Amino acid sequence: MKLSVLFDHIHKILDTIPGIASTAHTLKSTIHRWILAGGTPLRRIADFLHGVWIGHPLHPILTDLTIGSWLLGTVFDVLSLFTRSPRHQDMADTLTKIGTVSAVPTALAGMTDYSTIKKEAASFGLIHAAINSIGLALYILSLRARERGERGQGIGFSLIAFSGLAFSAWLGGELVYRFRVGVNHAPTTPKPEGWTAVLPADSLSAGQSKRVMINDQAILVYREDGGIYAIGAVCSHAGGPLERGTFKGECVQCPWHDSVFNLRDGSVVHGPSTYRQPTYQVRVIRSQIEIRVTPEQQLQR
Ligand code: FES
Repeated sequence: MKLSVLFDHIHKILDTIPGIASTAHTLKSTIHRWILAGGTPLRRIADFLHGVWIGHPLHPILTDLTIGSWLLGTVFDVLSLFTRSPRHQDMADTLTKIGTVSAVPTALAGMTDYSTIKKEAASFGLIHAAINSIGLALYILSLRARERGERGQGIGFSLIAFSGLAFSAWLGGELVYRFRVGVNHAPTTPKPEGWTAVLPADSLSAGQSKRVMINDQAILVYREDGGIYAIGAVCSHAGGPLERGTFKGECVQCPWHDSVFNLRDGSVVHGPSTYRQPTYQVRVIRSQIEIRVTPEQQLQR
């Protein structure tokens, strides 16, 4: 059997677990509501865990540390079974401990991302989280057994945990490569480079937003008392329609998962998105609103 066929089978099985889709959706929405209800302080913590401060999702970076430590710990565990070397045993214990401690922020970052995951990916996200939680619990048991001197039992717990985590890591990969979770959904080479008329100036009143299409790219044009703004209309987080968002001052809040972007420079004010929106210069010439990609973005090509 081809591996891709096997993976498709696994997908079907996971998708048909009774109640999984509704449970996953309810859980993620509850966590998201809880974060929003916490106001700015909780939102800032969530922004940190999403990775807004580094302009990249934080969770996959942390998983490298956690999985890497556990993997190396497993290698030294197996090695120590043959060599009986105290050095190898110490290495295994230390790496298992590093992996377990680092799993806490890794899990928190994952849970924060899960709170705003796409609906179609929520079931996979929940199973991924559940397996990882069981894995973490087994690693804690492993560390306790090691401390008691019951090394064989400790290694046993670690090996069972790592087998489950290997499957869960595949699920994590599917979330990114199949469901495009954490991937930038906004165009990375925005157009147009030259001034292009997009709307008659009198067709947009103050407080009004419109989506226009230029070269197959959707652009949000918004007028407020201070001027006219144009940024990518496709939310970089998961493709939400920003023209249907909530506008406040110089910011727009996505209608899908509440990312907030600055309309002036496209920067992320609040996650879950970690990627800025494409931004455009705007001018009004002969009663037409014209836009072009900002020179900085042209230089980045
Ligand atoms: S699509 Fe998720 S915040 Fe916009």
